[in-house]
Amino acid sequence: MNTSVETNSLELVGITSGYGTTTILRNIDLTVPAGSVTALLGPNGAGKSTLLKTVSGLVRPTRGVVRFGGDDITKLPTSERAKRGLCHIPEGRGIFRHLTVRENLQLQAGPHHEDELIERCTAAFPILGQRLNQRAGSMSGGQQQMLSMARAYAHNPKLILVDEASLGLAPILVDEIFRFLRQVADEGAALLIVDQFITRALALASRVYVMNRGEFVFSGTPGELEKDDVFNRYLGSD
Ligand SMILES: Nc1ncnc2c1ncn2[C@@H]1O[C@H](COP(=O)(O)OP(=O)(O)OP(=O)(O)O)[C@@H](O)[C@H]1O
Ligand SMILES: [Mg+2]
Repeated sequence: MNTSVETNSLELVGITSGYGTTTILRNIDLTVPAGSVTALLGPNGAGKSTLLKTVSGLVRPTRGVVRFGGDDITKLPTSERAKRGLCHIPEGRGIFRHLTVRENLQLQAGPHHEDELIERCTAAFPILGQRLNQRAGSMSGGQQQMLSMARAYAHNPKLILVDEASLGLAPILVDEIFRFLRQVADEGAALLIVDQFITRALALASRVYVMNRGEFVFSGTPGELEKDDVFNRYLGSD
């Protein structure tokens, strides 16, 4: 079990990154262990999405090291990171709206694993099983989010970066998505989640980082955060 913790974990050391000449993240150190959820919280514009993009390779750091499963992946392209089991679910879901649910899932499978993959995904989200032939873009926002999660799950990822999965969803769907995230972590994956539902995110997470203006102003357990001034200063209530 310990070896899988070692192989699955993400580590950022001294990361500075941004867009063009604009620096957004400054000297970031962060660790995401396998088999648990780490929450990344902070006000709008703090740099949370930029951090996730830096991990998946969409944004290149100007300083520092990104390690995944003990390997230095700082210079690897996004596609190579994905092959190693790193999955980024971006804001806005990243599904193919004009394709059916089945086709969206098929795109994740090699030619020989299609049935198995669809079975695995529909077991996780039964609603998708009833809608395999429906165009993804015609489903509700919550169902589209489930499809987006299912596509990530299909890869059996070692690390999942989830950016605002619950944005705009009804509480009952948020519950379902959070239950799913819990299950994926319990199966051994490392999860780094950004979410506006602070209370729910804290209930799921075993570690939390709070970011403001591209720097961490807190790292610790959810229990420690709730007792800290940082909570009221940067997070308020949800
Ligand atoms: N493609 C981009 N080019 C230039 N600046 C960007 C780009 N994307 C984001 N930024 C800037 O980087 C800063 C951090 O943005 P980021 O999206 O990482 O924040 P965030 O914490 O995810 O915010 P939110 O909670 O609103 O999603 C902001 O000042 C934003 O304007
Ligand atoms: Mg964001």
